[in-house]
Amino acid sequence: MDEAAFFCANYCHRFPLRCDSMTRMLLMIVLLMSTDAEALRVIGGNVKVVQGGTAMLSCYVMDTNDDLTQITWQRRTREKPHNDNFLTILPRDGPQFVSERDDRFKYIGNFNDKNGTLQLSNVALKDEGSYTCIFTLFPSGNQKTEIPLNLLVPPFTSIKDNLPTLGTEEVLFATCTAAGSKPPAEVRWLTGALGDKVRTTTNSTQYDNGTTTTVSSLFGVPMREINGHQVQCVISGDFLSKVESLPFTIQIYFSPTEVNIRAKSEDSFECVTEANPSANFTWSRSGQSLLQSAVKVDGAKLQLLSLTSDLNGLYQCEASNTYGSKHGQLYVRVASGACSAAWVLFGVLLFLNVVGAAAWYFYKRGCFQSRRSLNQHGGKQHDTKLHQSVRNEDHGPEEEDLQRDQEESL
Ligand SMILES: *[C@@H]1O[C@H](CO)[C@@H](O)[C@H](O)[C@H]1NC(C)=O
Ligand SMILES: *[C@@H]1O[C@H](CO)[C@@H](O)[C@H](O)[C@H]1NC(C)=O
Ligand SMILES: *[C@@H]1O[C@H](CO)[C@@H](O)[C@H](O)[C@H]1NC(C)=O
Ligand SMILES: *[C@@H]1O[C@H](CO)[C@@H](O)[C@H](O)[C@H]1NC(C)=O
Repeated sequence: MDEAAFFCANYCHRFPLRCDSMTRMLLMIVLLMSTDAEALRVIGGNVKVVQGGTAMLSCYVMDTNDDLTQITWQRRTREKPHNDNFLTILPRDGPQFVSERDDRFKYIGNFNDKNGTLQLSNVALKDEGSYTCIFTLFPSGNQKTEIPLNLLVPPFTSIKDNLPTLGTEEVLFATCTAAGSKPPAEVRWLTGALGDKVRTTTNSTQYDNGTTTTVSSLFGVPMREINGHQVQCVISGDFLSKVESLPFTIQIYFSPTEVNIRAKSEDSFECVTEANPSANFTWSRSGQSLLQSAVKVDGAKLQLLSLTSDLNGLYQCEASNTYGSKHGQLYVRVASGACSAAWVLFGVLLFLNVVGAAAWYFYKRGCFQSRRSLNQHGGKQHDTKLHQSVRNEDHGPEEEDLQRDQEESL
């Protein structure tokens, strides 16, 4: 068009007398008809594909009756920043790789339709760049179009727990990472009810291959009340068809707090503490090994199997996790006499070998009563009676004792 207008303006300038509007129009029409290459169009496109997917590099010529002699594909990538021919398509030989063969490219166009479309499968980051298809036409010459190929690379996502321990200063709780994405990922934390008890920051690093790693960090003061709170890390970007959400439970880690020993029944005890991660318990006996036949240990539980004075002594429960350990102590005294046993539980908190606190437990009121009665009256006859009265108060293990006592008295 510009050419025609220029020609027309030139003509009118040189021959002003003949330059009426009719002449102008005729000249224009003649010029337009003579350049039918003006209407020829090479149609390409803009391709976005997810890494590993298949790209269609669509390219064809429209509106021409010229003869097509060759289709040439060129590319420019990050590795090869200069346009170079990599594939030629000739009517008889079909597609030919110029240098190395790459079977991921497949010619799916049609030469007779002047269609040069290529398919590229298993697209990798190195394929990203600009692809040019060139149609060698006669008589109009080379016609070309450029097709940018953009890759979408989904990130590797992860949350790393920074294992915060109880404290009063702000620390890093966890980081959420979206590694190696293209374009950069958006990473944020949804902290719900925690509100301003936590703070987040986001950092990103771009690599030479065009990918970006985005890291979002979650900070806060590691208080007990934050322990167990659920939060989420949300990752979004073009590379994902939907938002990815990673749940995370904030854990504040601490060594076992004070160790308590609870009587579960007359002859079994449980060691109780708070710790994160949960404590492991080890029962031991002061100065002696645990009598395998007389006691049963199951995690935090200690059960005395036979109620004999052999068991008398100090027992220790050690609660430990990776952050530390604490002790609780139990003093066992099996009273002689009819009442099967009277326990005095003596819980001593030891931490770093320092006695922290002591607690006394008076266990089984019924038993103390009966013991007192026994002292007053003595004799087996009474024992059974007394036991029966105990049984009415307490249930469960007492029945076994009664049976045992009765067996003994037979
Ligand atoms: C060119 O070929 C591709 C692949 O076969 C096809 O999808 C496309 O419709 C063709 N284009 C034209 C204009 O024929
Ligand atoms: C964030 O980036 C800055 C500098 O770019 C760096 O010093 C800091 O350690 C990064 N923070 C994290 C949490 O990666
Ligand atoms: C891009 O580069 C980074 C850093 O060198 C590397 O870790 C990552 O694997 C690369 N990504 C791809 C898709 O090649
Ligand atoms: C607790 O016990 C488990 C399983 O018995 C063991 O894998 C772990 O290492 C123990 N932890 C400590 C702190 O001893």
